[in-house]
Amino acid sequence: MEKQISIPTRAHRSLPSVGLGFWKIPNESTAKLALEAAKIGYRHFDCASDYGNEQQVGEGINQILSEGICRREDLWVTGKLWNTYHRKEHVRLACERSLKDLQIDYLDLYLIHFPIALAYVPFEHRYPAGWHYDPESESPRMIPDAVPICETWEAMERLVQAGLVRTVGVSNFGTSLLRDVLSYASIRPSVLQVESHPYLVQSKLLRYCQQEQIAVTAFSPLGAPSYIPLGMATASESVIEQPVVAQIAQEVGRTPAQVVLRWGVQRGTAVIPKTQQIARLKENLSLFDFELTSEHMEMISRLDRNQRFNDPGVFCEQAFGCYYPIYE
Ligand SMILES: NC(=O)c1ccc[n+]([C@@H]2O[C@H](COP(=O)([O-])OP(=O)(O)OC[C@H]3O[C@@H](n4cnc5c(N)ncnc54)[C@H](OP(=O)(O)O)[C@@H]3O)[C@@H](O)[C@H]2O)c1
Repeated sequence: MEKQISIPTRAHRSLPSVGLGFWKIPNESTAKLALEAAKIGYRHFDCASDYGNEQQVGEGINQILSEGICRREDLWVTGKLWNTYHRKEHVRLACERSLKDLQIDYLDLYLIHFPIALAYVPFEHRYPAGWHYDPESESPRMIPDAVPICETWEAMERLVQAGLVRTVGVSNFGTSLLRDVLSYASIRPSVLQVESHPYLVQSKLLRYCQQEQIAVTAFSPLGAPSYIPLGMATASESVIEQPVVAQIAQEVGRTPAQVVLRWGVQRGTAVIPKTQQIARLKENLSLFDFELTSEHMEMISRLDRNQRFNDPGVFCEQAFGCYYPIYE
């Protein structure tokens, strides 16, 4: 396999352009998957307290380091501050819990997971806290909390100063919120993580981030497949089934998934495809010994439909009984 490229950041080091996403990886297969991924060459793990498997990722990291697959400083580990911990007194506690579970003493990147603050749920009460405040009640509800982003951001900056995280960033933010953060940040966000795939190209957001020297990580880089089992997308909405993608895949002798991921990398974003299939780990990382022509790139970008699968303005109402749009 060719050496993968990295994306410059304001951080201590550049971001490996392909990472493994851990959302929805079952606990029982997580540690082994992390280990196998590292053996194959993954050096970037995308984690979050909300995924409920940081302890198992931690077991995997422990094995990776003890077997000498790579050193801690070769790994890029991203964590995410959950919505229930936006108040300044909870940010450090949340980060420390992730570090303990992941068995590491610093995160390479800590992101505000969503610009959504929810009422605090004590760690001993329930962890991860999830979206519902009271999942056991007869009518569980999501309870928003009015916490300004600047309060959370200042607490994130203190994590950098304390050496718990190397760099900080945000996720699911648009240009207006980014501008707001940049207006007071003494430590600027180095990475924005957002949904992006050929049906949600986000060219204005990417251009703004380039202008502000904020690296972009594309989550759900394959689009619909992650959301089909959740009932949030249908198989017919899958970009890897698109004839244009299939045609390009045939031309370059790669799989449709590799074409879509290569498109993401070639336009300058990091991609963090999730797979729990070992064979696909290799497939998803093998993106650096072929290139798409500028015509291929344009053909794929023209598939844009501004279609977002992960939209709190939709799923919070459907699943958690609270209308909470953030992009409009
Ligand atoms: N910041 C946020 O709010 C946020 C939101 C969503 C996701 N994320 C992060 O982004 C990561 C990736 O996003 P995602 O998990 O939503 O979606 P994704 O990585 O785009 O897609 C995952 C889906 O595609 C399938 N798949 C993986 N590789 C494939 C291949 N080579 N060919 C065909 N199908 C393939 C997987 O199935 P198998 O597992 O069976 O292979 C799974 O169903 C997450 O794991 C998480 O770390 C962040």
